[in-house]
Amino acid sequence: MEAEMSIENSKFSSRVLIRSIVNRSDGGESLAGEKMKIGGWVKTGREQGKGSFAFLEVNDGSCPTSLQVIVNSSVTCLSTLVQTGTCVYVEGVLTKTPQGTKQKVELKVDKLLHVGPVDSATYPIPKTKLTLERLRDFVHMRPRTNTISAVARIRNALAYATHTFFQMHNLYVHTPIITTSDCEGAGEMFQVTALFSDADKVDKELKQKPPPSEADIEAAKKLVSEKGEAVKSAKAKKEDITDLVTELKKAKDDLTRLEERFKLKPGLPEKDGKIDYTRDFFARQAFLTVSGQLQVETFACALSNVYTFGPTFRAEHSHTSRHLAEFWMVEPEIAFADLEDDMNCAEEYVKFLCKWLLEHCRDDMEFMVKNFDKTAIDRLEMVSSTPFERITYTRAIELLKDVDAKVKTFEKKVEWGIDLASEHERYLTEVMFKKPVIVYNYPKDFKAFYMRLNDDLRTVAAMDVLVPKVGELIGGSQREERYEVIEKRILDSGLPLEPYEWYLDLRRYGTVKHSGFGLGFERMVLFATGLDNIRDVIPFPRYPGRADL
Ligand code: 4AD
Ligand code: MG
Repeated sequence: MEAEMSIENSKFSSRVLIRSIVNRSDGGESLAGEKMKIGGWVKTGREQGKGSFAFLEVNDGSCPTSLQVIVNSSVTCLSTLVQTGTCVYVEGVLTKTPQGTKQKVELKVDKLLHVGPVDSATYPIPKTKLTLERLRDFVHMRPRTNTISAVARIRNALAYATHTFFQMHNLYVHTPIITTSDCEGAGEMFQVTALFSDADKVDKELKQKPPPSEADIEAAKKLVSEKGEAVKSAKAKKEDITDLVTELKKAKDDLTRLEERFKLKPGLPEKDGKIDYTRDFFARQAFLTVSGQLQVETFACALSNVYTFGPTFRAEHSHTSRHLAEFWMVEPEIAFADLEDDMNCAEEYVKFLCKWLLEHCRDDMEFMVKNFDKTAIDRLEMVSSTPFERITYTRAIELLKDVDAKVKTFEKKVEWGIDLASEHERYLTEVMFKKPVIVYNYPKDFKAFYMRLNDDLRTVAAMDVLVPKVGELIGGSQREERYEVIEKRILDSGLPLEPYEWYLDLRRYGTVKHSGFGLGFERMVLFATGLDNIRDVIPFPRYPGRADL
């Protein structure tokens, strides 16, 4: 209660945060009479009393609730102020509202400090709600909507909670975004290259100024030898040769430049009929990372408990509501940990996130429940308090086969050896167990080379955490720490050894049992908010055909 008495000033701008008024248990009543500045954007505005005053609902993004602001026509022209989207920065006195009104207080404005007007004829976010799909056409304006700002706060809370959780146990490592190894070995990487822009530059330059001819080069060579001779003979005569040496140097530089330009060829550099990547920026092929795991393992095998949290990229052409081309992943990696430790960590982390939202994002979660998913809060409560089901892949297949025979037919036939499809995963977690399910010990054939081979020689120590609403939220494994085994797994997966030599070194020198996982951060936001499409839970979605801004 102590904190409640004080009013929260925005630290680096001169105004009071709206949440510190409307979120008080008395709705801000005890602050009545206080003079203050607030700033924000008008959600709705209406003129009243024959245009003598206006009511504005102003939101500054500090919480879902807006503050009611009253402006008298003596202060300014009201018709500009009432347009949705207008920015206002005002000074006034907080006043109690008449009994029976929704808000407990409103701000009576006596000074207008700034107005950022809006032309309602062209403003893309009208008062009437646009669908989330339509809003994706205005990705730069959609943070102005209640939904996208609530998602932004929930996403922010999940990021904060993630660091809070892992900072208790692990060390944060920044893994590279540009990489030369394919972690998942699936070849779904975006290439990073400067060859195209370099080629464009050369093309342009050659058009502006044609390359030198062989005769030009010969002439330049002749000049160099003449200047050389001049220096030599001056030396013999012991004359002052400074100027001659300067001239010789210039002739040599000109020749080098000409020779370089002579070599310029339009198009991409080639060698033996293939693109010559030794001429690319990194002198080799490079890509955007699909996962920071391999690199974070180098730190786990030295600092023991680590994690990375960063953007990852996949060039898979999946047009689904669960896939993005650019998404964020949280990847802990723990030395001396086996698959069971890994599952324990994943379960505790997901529970921690759910509890965190219940404690820190109640108002935004209530907004989601009211507008999108009635079960969103119940789901967080259930997950934070229910032990996750843990079943082997083999058991999952048995159960699903039984369902397939007796209850419903799946699109993809259930057989030992298949990669579980989203329909199977969701059936397990949503219908059969009605809680998170961890499936572990998958067939090795469709899993990545780094997962530890089990003693049965046909499964690996992998685990996926499946949750209602989303399906696969986490993928992880115990890593193969035995040199011979992992070397064979790389080769059997059809991958070349050379790019993984550094990774093999971790097994050559001081190898250790270790495990980790990757949580798809947007999948977690999707799970929490209850929204249907992953494109609405990342600020700037990238997917096939789309990368706005
Ligand atoms: O299961 P994945 O592919 O695992 C890895 O990348 C491991 N290297 C992680 C590790 O062990 N450190 O991806 C991990 C998670 C998935 O479970 C899913 O939640 C999410 O990342 N994910 C995606 N999210 C959005 N869009 C995509 N295209 C995604 N692909 C994977
Ligand atoms: Mg996976």
